[in-house]
Amino acid sequence: MKPPDVSDDVRSRLAIALDVDDLVEAGRLGRRMLPWFSVAKIGLELFSAAGPEAVGAFVDQGYKVFLDMKLHDIPTTVGRASRVLGSLGVSYVTVHSSGGVDMLSAAVDGLHEGASAAGLCPPAVLAVTVLTSEPNAPRTVLEERLTFASEANCGGVVCAASDLGQVSRLAPELLTVVPGIRPEGVASHDQGRPATPSTAIQNGAGILVIGRAVTAADEPEVAASAIAMEVANAI
Ligand code: C5P
Repeated sequence: MKPPDVSDDVRSRLAIALDVDDLVEAGRLGRRMLPWFSVAKIGLELFSAAGPEAVGAFVDQGYKVFLDMKLHDIPTTVGRASRVLGSLGVSYVTVHSSGGVDMLSAAVDGLHEGASAAGLCPPAVLAVTVLTSEPNAPRTVLEERLTFASEANCGGVVCAASDLGQVSRLAPELLTVVPGIRPEGVASHDQGRPATPSTAIQNGAGILVIGRAVTAADEPEVAASAIAMEVANAI
């Protein structure tokens, strides 16, 4: 396939979810996907398998690394862990907003301290709002968690596309990172609130997290190109 013509604008909006437990396999996927994606999401699976080495591998490939740790513990512990994570060279770290303002603030402060001790730019905290495994959470839960994220000076939130309207009304300063992206006709797997790339972008998504829509496709490059084109037409 000919090298894709993907603008920086489009690449900057796309994160690839490296949901595998093997760094060699993830590295191969990362190299293949670099023309379309600027952000590599390392989740618990890959971080459990490969640890901080995984971060270095994708920074070296040229990605901004999104460490999807979904931290949730007492503020002291989250702050200490964040100090370590802040020194690794990542750009984004997820923390559960349900942990409250003090815990989110501890993450923000810890990441700043760790990054500045290592001479790096501080990563942004992305507060995870409402999981798809909480389908019955009332709207007030999202409101409360957005308030926590704003008060703690988080950089952004992870939310479903269907929550983007509420996020832009209540906390427009927060970057919105949206998983559950499925082009028309692609299986939704276990995603509870899927949206197409164009719907998510038109509703205000900052970054789209793309996983199995590309990684489980017969031809990942073809699937990535189709998504990039859909995003280009929506922005
Ligand atoms: O479904 P897909 O492979 O696109 O998942 C991409 C990311 O979405 C996963 O890495 C996971 O963090 C997140 N996810 C989610 N809700 C689910 C399943 C996955 O937010 N129900």
